[in-house]
Amino acid sequence: MKSTLSATRLLILVAAIIAATALLVGCSGSTEGLLGQELYNKSCELCHGADGRRGTPIGAGSPAVELSDEQIRGAITVGPGTMPGFPRFSPEQLDSLVTLVRDLQAGNAGDG
Ligand code: HEC
Repeated sequence: MKSTLSATRLLILVAAIIAATALLVGCSGSTEGLLGQELYNKSCELCHGADGRRGTPIGAGSPAVELSDEQIRGAITVGPGTMPGFPRFSPEQLDSLVTLVRDLQAGNAGDG
């Protein structure tokens, strides 16, 4: 079977779809009421992976281990660099994400 799509093109296509989906998720209000793992799966996993080690790593062994809770909250709200910000997350949602990111960094979640 000969595919018309090269592996590289397929990868670029998949990356573009992921980026577009992530933007949609970031802009929609559909995360209301979600906390912790559910919120992470919906808003963060696409870019950071279930275990926080893919894409831009924020999990175990990543530079984000050095960030304070306050800095993680700030990063989520504002969105550093090319990361979209999530200014509409409630303090409770931000706290639940900080807890989850700490779990990922401790290796208590995902497949790591
Ligand atoms: C569209 C992709 C995308 C999504 C969605 C996304 N991030 Fe990021 N995130 C990034 C990128 C890219 C960076 C690195 C930004 C830079 O430093 O330039 C980053 C950086 C971070 C950092 C490190 C910040 C720092 O100051 O070093 C944390 C923590 C983080 N993201 C958490 C999250 C959480 C939690 C969510 C979900 C609410 C999330 N991200 C959603 C792409 C994304």
